[in-house]
Amino acid sequence: MKSKNDILLQHYIEAHIDNEPELLRELQRQAHITLLNPRMLSGHVQGRILKMFMLMINPRHVLEIGTYTGYSALCIAEGLSETATLDTIEINDELQPKIQSFFNRSEHGAKITLHIGDALHIIPQFSYNFDAVFIDGNKRHYIEYYELCMQKLNAGGYIFADNTLWDGHVIDTEIAANDYQTQGILAFNKHVKNDSRVQTVILPIRDGITILKKI
Ligand SMILES: C[S@@+](CC[C@H](N)C(=O)[O-])C[C@H]1O[C@@H](n2cnc3c(N)ncnc32)[C@H](O)[C@@H]1O
Repeated sequence: MKSKNDILLQHYIEAHIDNEPELLRELQRQAHITLLNPRMLSGHVQGRILKMFMLMINPRHVLEIGTYTGYSALCIAEGLSETATLDTIEINDELQPKIQSFFNRSEHGAKITLHIGDALHIIPQFSYNFDAVFIDGNKRHYIEYYELCMQKLNAGGYIFADNTLWDGHVIDTEIAANDYQTQGILAFNKHVKNDSRVQTVILPIRDGITILKKI
């Protein structure tokens, strides 16, 4: 559970970074009313960070695994140049109308293509490579996503993997023993640590974001 200081610090950060665009505020409000797990969406701080990552690396093609509401996709798209593209993959087809309606309303929506289906089947079908990937799908399959993405990632490209500290469960052996998602994250963290094809850091932001640079 978050301490009072953690919450105050979170509010302080939100008050001193770029504002959350109105469309994303609306999306977040709707998600809290209509969806089961609104906590899954990136939110104000992480959304601004994702945008900043894109501004820093200026990618041509970006891939996202796990669209959910489209919140992170819209933040990534905001940071892209007008000619850059984002392909985002979501397995839950019930989310499609809601996601697409927000993409249609966004001034950055034209950069985004939504793919409905399993990322494990869709990734191998792309005919072009990516400069950046945001992995945020099923925690049990992170290594599989990662290996597929590495085949489609340009040298010098980046993979951003979300939730790699998994609410601190990565250091709780009791939880890890009984939880497949924690086991998936633990296996992924070990896998990339031992992979000489990438340089790796973990940012202890929100739920942990691993940044991998392909050499
Ligand atoms: C944590 S949410 C994504 C949140 C979103 N990226 C954001 O930050 O706003 C994870 C999403 O991944 C989707 N998902 C899970 N497994 C998937 C797969 N194999 N392929 C595509 N999407 C998947 C889930 O349905 C869920 O909507």
